[in-house]
Order: sequence, then C-alpha cells, then structure tokens
Amino acid sequence: MNYLRAWLLLGFLILVGLILGPVFNFLPNRLTVKVISPDKDFLAVSTCLQNSCMDCHTPGATILPWYANMPIASDIIYSDIANAQGAFIISRENLSGEAPFDSVQLNKIKMVLEQNSMPPVLYLAMHWNGGVGSSKNTMLKWIDKASPNYGLKPIPKEDPFHSDAEKVQLGKHLYFDNRLSVNDTISCSSCHSFDRGGADGAIVSAGVKGQKGVINAPTVFNSAFNFVQFWDGRAASLKEQVTGPVTNPVEMGSMWSQVIDKLAKDEQYVADFAKSYPPSESSTSKHSITVRNISDAISTYEQTLITPNCRFDRYLQGDKQAINSDEEAGYKLFVSHNCVSCHTGINFGSESFEKMGVKKNYFAWRGHLTNADNGRYNVTHEEKDRFEFKVPTLRNVALTAPYFHDGSVNDLNVAVKIMGEYQVGQLFSDQEAQLVTKFLNTLTGEYNGKQLTLENNH
Ligand code: HEC
Ligand code: HEC
Ligand code: HEC
Repeated sequence: MNYLRAWLLLGFLILVGLILGPVFNFLPNRLTVKVISPDKDFLAVSTCLQNSCMDCHTPGATILPWYANMPIASDIIYSDIANAQGAFIISRENLSGEAPFDSVQLNKIKMVLEQNSMPPVLYLAMHWNGGVGSSKNTMLKWIDKASPNYGLKPIPKEDPFHSDAEKVQLGKHLYFDNRLSVNDTISCSSCHSFDRGGADGAIVSAGVKGQKGVINAPTVFNSAFNFVQFWDGRAASLKEQVTGPVTNPVEMGSMWSQVIDKLAKDEQYVADFAKSYPPSESSTSKHSITVRNISDAISTYEQTLITPNCRFDRYLQGDKQAINSDEEAGYKLFVSHNCVSCHTGINFGSESFEKMGVKKNYFAWRGHLTNADNGRYNVTHEEKDRFEFKVPTLRNVALTAPYFHDGSVNDLNVAVKIMGEYQVGQLFSDQEAQLVTKFLNTLTGEYNGKQLTLENNH
C-alpha cells in the first residue's frame, strides 16, 4: 500500500516535472566552467558533470532560478544543496581541470553512476535533460583510466619510509618521556599506548592533572599513512602534529622553552641530538635541542609505528586462506555497501574528509552538540565542512574502542550499525553487522613482528 502511494506520488511529480520542466529549464543561470585541462577526453566528462551534478555539488556554480526563493521550494532546494555539498563536493577547479579530481572523488562518482543513484529522481523530473544518459560509459572509462590503482591496499612488506635509525631511537626516547609535560607526568605514550592499539581506551583522554580533553584519541599506529593529522586535519604532517599536544593546556600543558631546558640538562639527550642534528657553524647554542629537531625525531619514530601483515593484508596479497568464510562474507558486505568509498587506500581511511551523517542526521540523534562536533568546520569556517572529519583508519580497529570522534560507542558491532544507517543508508541485521565486524577483526596487524593485542606490545 505504501509502495503504491509512493509510486503514485512519484508519477504525479514526474508529470508536473514534464509540464513545468521545460519552462523552468530556461531559468537557472548556470555559470559554465571553461575546461582548461590538456586531457582531451576530460572535456566530455566535465560537460556531463556540469550538466548533471554541478547544480547541487559545486559551491557557487549555479545562480538558482526565481522559484528557488519561493517559500516551500526554497526549503527543499537549499536543504538539498546543503546535504549534497556536505556529502560530496565537485569544485569549479575540479571541473576546469585546474585541480584534478583525487581518487576518492573519482570513485564516488563511479559508485553513484554504477548504482544510477545520482542525480536524484526528483531532480530528473524537473530537469529532464539532467541525466548522465549515454555519457555514462565515457565517464566510467575515463575514471578507470584516471584512477587505476584505487582500492584497499596492504601495507608493503618493505618499510616504505627508510627512517634514519639514530633519529628513530632518539624519537622513541622522547615519545616515552614524561618530561615533555609540565609536571613530568604524561608522555605521548600515556594517550597513545601500544597496549591500547595506539590509543588510550578512554572516551576522551585525561591530560595533565587529570584534565579531560574534548575528543577521542585516535591511534598513533599507521598515522604516517594519514593524508593529514587530527580529526579536523589541522596538522598537515606528523612533524607539524607534534607541536600540538605538548603545549595543549589539557594534554601536556607545557611550554617549549621549559621542555628544552629540562631536556638540555640530560647529557644523553645533548649527545644524541648533536649526533642526529649537528649544530650549524653559526649557532651560539651549546646544544641542538630545538622544537624543530624534537618534532623531527618524534615524527621519524612514528614512521616506524606501522602494523603490517594483518590477515586481511595477506588475503590481499593472494593468500585466500588467510581469512575464513565468515570474514570473507563480511568483506563482501563492506564492499557492496560502499564502506570502501570512504574507508579506502592503505589505511582503510584517512584519504579524505567526510561528513558524519551523509544519509541521516547523526548529531540530531545523538544530541548535546559540542564544538568538537563541528569537525573540519573549526579549521575552515566554511559551512560545507561542518560535521566533516578525517575518515579514521580501520587498521587495528578491534583494539581501539571506544569509537568515533566523540568516543560514544564501545562495541564495534554497534559502530558498524551506525555507519550503515548514517553513512550508507543501510539498516544492517544483527547477522550482517556481525559479519562486517568479523572482517574488521582481520585488520589487526603486527608490530615489531608480533601480533598486536591489548597488552604486552613492547
Ligand atoms: C538535485 C541535487 C543533486 C544533483 C543534481 C546530484 N546530486 Fe549527488 N547528492 C545529492 C544529495 C542531496 C546527496 C546527499 C544525500 C544522499 O546521498 O542521498 C548527494 C550525494 C552524493 C554523493 C555521496 C555519496 C552518496 O551516495 O551518498 C555523491 C558521490 C554524489 N552525490 C555524486 C553525484 C553525481 C556524480 C552527480 C551527477 C551525475 C550528482 N551527484 C547529482 C544531490 C544531488
Ligand atoms: C592527553 C592525551 C594525549 C597526549 C599526551 C598526546 N596525545 Fe596525541 N592525540 C590525543 C588526542 C585527543 C588526539 C586527537 C585530537 C584532535 O584530533 O583534535 C591526538 C592526535 C594525535 C595524532 C593524530 C592521529 C590522527 O589519526 O589524526 C598523532 C599522530 C598524535 N596524537 C601523536 C602524539 C604524540 C607524538 C604525542 C607526544 C608528543 C601525543 N600525541 C601526545 C591525545 C593525546
Ligand atoms: C561517507 C564516508 C563513509 C562511509 C561510506 C563509511 N564511513 Fe565509516 N567512518 C567515516 C567517518 C567520517 C568516521 C568518523 C566519524 C566520527 O568519528 O564521528 C567513520 C568511522 C568509522 C568507524 C569507527 C572508527 C574509529 O576508530 O572510531 C568504523 C568502525 C567504521 N567507520 C566502519 C564503517 C563501515 C562498516 C562502513 C560501511 C557500512 C562505513 N564505515 C562507511 C566515514 C565513512
């Protein structure tokens, strides 16, 4: 019965669209983006995206027709555009070819084309030449050519960073050194413990004097593969990231001048820094312990905190027996429900910022909004970035509860269900969620050649 009503409504809307569509189509004033890419095949792709997707996904690309400002229409159209741009941005620079699409973007376009899920039906009813039609195959071919190596990747067996051994050793001492905090009580390892999957097992971390932070601590393992650091991406690199916690009042609460004074009293440090970072000729300082060198040493050490050889990596490398049939079924669900459109690449995440709540409003459900919930918006102050977060890695996720930036979920199974409902619009049954969770359990890797567990990883 409900189906019937939905179809009648749809039929009615399409009829209205057919009558009014041609009238309205004269009205939107689309600012065509000129293609400057040298790639000849890109012209057809950009033209199609401009025709079918730009109205909703490109900020400032379309001057909406007059009817968009009518009371009811404006609510629908503007909230649709806000949702569309929260979920996916195609920038003008992407369309011109100035800023090439990255592989996450390309594969999302591929996903919606294959599913025929975009543009939305209602839009097609209003803009009957808005569909991708016969351009679809051209687009798919071009995407495969432009982004050939997309997908889940194993951690390479060879250390990809070739880190300098002495700097690694020095960085390791610093990583475990409480003297980086104001009252010598907290080290990096306090909140990024190897016995807690590289995190701390708390909803939010406790810093100096037991002060509570505002956001869940992500794992330090494999952070060297992240495209940016922190949930909101405010640090571009690991080296830049290190300066955050040391001076953060609720984390280590220190000042760099203090830290450097303390470390400079330690002869071992003075000698080790001199070896790894020889002071320049012109330097007047007696040692080379500087913010820059401390950050460099710690971030060099962090490059060694990688966990290769999880069972699923072995599966990807060709050992089909490395995971059992339940785990494989979970992997197939993970792919078929598009989890992989965001959790992709070498870290099964950390390649893009994505909105928490693409298909449904997560924050309305959870309640009590905090400033940290604004995510990427806190860095850019652009509306389209509100509630967007760096997609977390899923490596070792079985060890890093509680989950999400708000640490609100303890059980991985529940986290999977929430992702299903809010990110891909899929209500998983208990059995399906359990299969996906079993798959996620195969992502626990090895540190220093030993399987990572919740204890004894030193
Ligand atoms: C009438 C507005 C509109 C048009 C036109 C439109 N989209 Fe969307 N799109 C949305 C909305 C709203 C969402 C977010 C909600 C959702 O995903 O259902 C979205 C979500 C997406 C997503 C996020 C992934 C997903 O499935 O949620 C992608 C990718 C996407 N669109 C690509 C495209 C492409 C490619 C085109 C052109 C072929 C296009 N869209 C045309 C409104 C639009
Ligand atoms: C008091 C707890 C605490 C201490 C001490 C601490 N961190 Fe963190 N760390 C966090 C929290 C919380 C975040 C997330 C903050 C955010 O995203 O806004 C974080 C984020 C990170 C990230 C980014 C990971 C990612 O996926 O984005 C790295 C890397 C990191 N910390 C390394 C370090 C290093 C190195 C030190 C020592 C210099 C350190 N942390 C000290 C709690 C802590
Ligand atoms: C549109 C992009 C997107 C899709 C699709 C997506 N995720 Fe996520 N995932 C995210 C983001 C963003 C977060 C962090 C959200 C937060 O912390 O508020 C996340 C967090 C998670 C976490 C918690 C990780 C942690 O350490 O806190 C798990 C587990 C997870 N996703 C699994 C899945 C599964 C399973 C699917 C498919 C059903 C899926 N995701 C689909 C973007 C996505």
